[in-house]
Amino acid sequence: MALRNIVTGEDEILRKKSKPVTVFDRRLHELLDDMLETMEHADGVGLAAVQVGVLRRVVVIRIKEEDPVLELVNPVIVEASEEQQCGTEACLSYPGEAGIVCRPKRVTVQAQNRNGDMITVTGEDLLARALCHELDHLDGVVFLDRAERMLNEDEEE
Ligand code: NI
Repeated sequence: MALRNIVTGEDEILRKKSKPVTVFDRRLHELLDDMLETMEHADGVGLAAVQVGVLRRVVVIRIKEEDPVLELVNPVIVEASEEQQCGTEACLSYPGEAGIVCRPKRVTVQAQNRNGDMITVTGEDLLARALCHELDHLDGVVFLDRAERMLNEDEEE
């Protein structure tokens, strides 16, 4: 495993649409392993491949240390609750920034795992928020686009 550089907001790659993964090989596994290491090193709860400069539809999420690592390849939201949650959101690609973003309270995502098998994940609250945030990255959408408002420095503390 190796740490990769996290691209930041000035990099236009964050605005590009990622391509589906078609080959589930060792390179993909290395990417997933590196993404997890990079995310944890940066104290994040989610990371999309585009954030390490790879335009592929790959996401890793782990909300709490004791949670299993979610590795999502080619993920799609198949169900979202009408009920919304509005709360603070931030992104490893925008250090020091945070905003209020409203998301569905619960979402169900279909994806493939690292071996290409289909998996289904349902998340509520923070996990639903992370799923929406990371899947947005795959389409070049960042939380700033969705923020009701950004927080100022006092509020961030
Ligand atoms: Ni992000």
